[in-house]
Amino acid sequence: MSPDYEDRVTVDLPSWARVSDKRRAHIQRVVALIEQWADEMHVLPAERRDWLDAARWHDALRDASREELRQLAGDAPYEPEMLHGPAAAAKLEDEGERRSEVLDAIRYHTVGSPEWSRTGRALYMADFLEPGRSFSREDRAFLSAQVPHDFDRVFRQVVRMRLVYALNEGHTLFPETVQLWNSIR
Ligand SMILES: [Fe+2]
Ligand SMILES: [Fe+2]
Repeated sequence: MSPDYEDRVTVDLPSWARVSDKRRAHIQRVVALIEQWADEMHVLPAERRDWLDAARWHDALRDASREELRQLAGDAPYEPEMLHGPAAAAKLEDEGERRSEVLDAIRYHTVGSPEWSRTGRALYMADFLEPGRSFSREDRAFLSAQVPHDFDRVFRQVVRMRLVYALNEGHTLFPETVQLWNSIR
């Protein structure tokens, strides 16, 4: 990815998006990374569009108020910082989005889902492996470069890393996350 990508590309966000500049830069890096993988993997146009749209919209409500998120996400049993996934999926659905793979990628991007197609898996990896995050830079850059060659194995490794982190931090594990791990371990 060229270093000036963030300056060159402005990702179109929906009019209802609530994102800080910092968040917008993260979204742009996720889009750039997923696009790079799609190119290297010769992903067909329809699926490529799904990947890019999922990346573009996944954090559109990341900086929305708790009230707004709660209202949109309904009874999703998540902690407040996880509600932006279900909330964005609900909003997109309201607006007529019907691609279930895109909606599910966004809805579950903070917890994972055993039902995911490649779209959800690609977003989950790109969200974690994008180069702007400051931890484990070398390991993550290595994994990121491996995605086009070994998609499933890198996905498993990313799920594992996120699970280990959640356990180390004492976070709640959600059933979707555990089911995801059991389906790929
Ligand atoms: Fe997110
Ligand atoms: Fe994100």
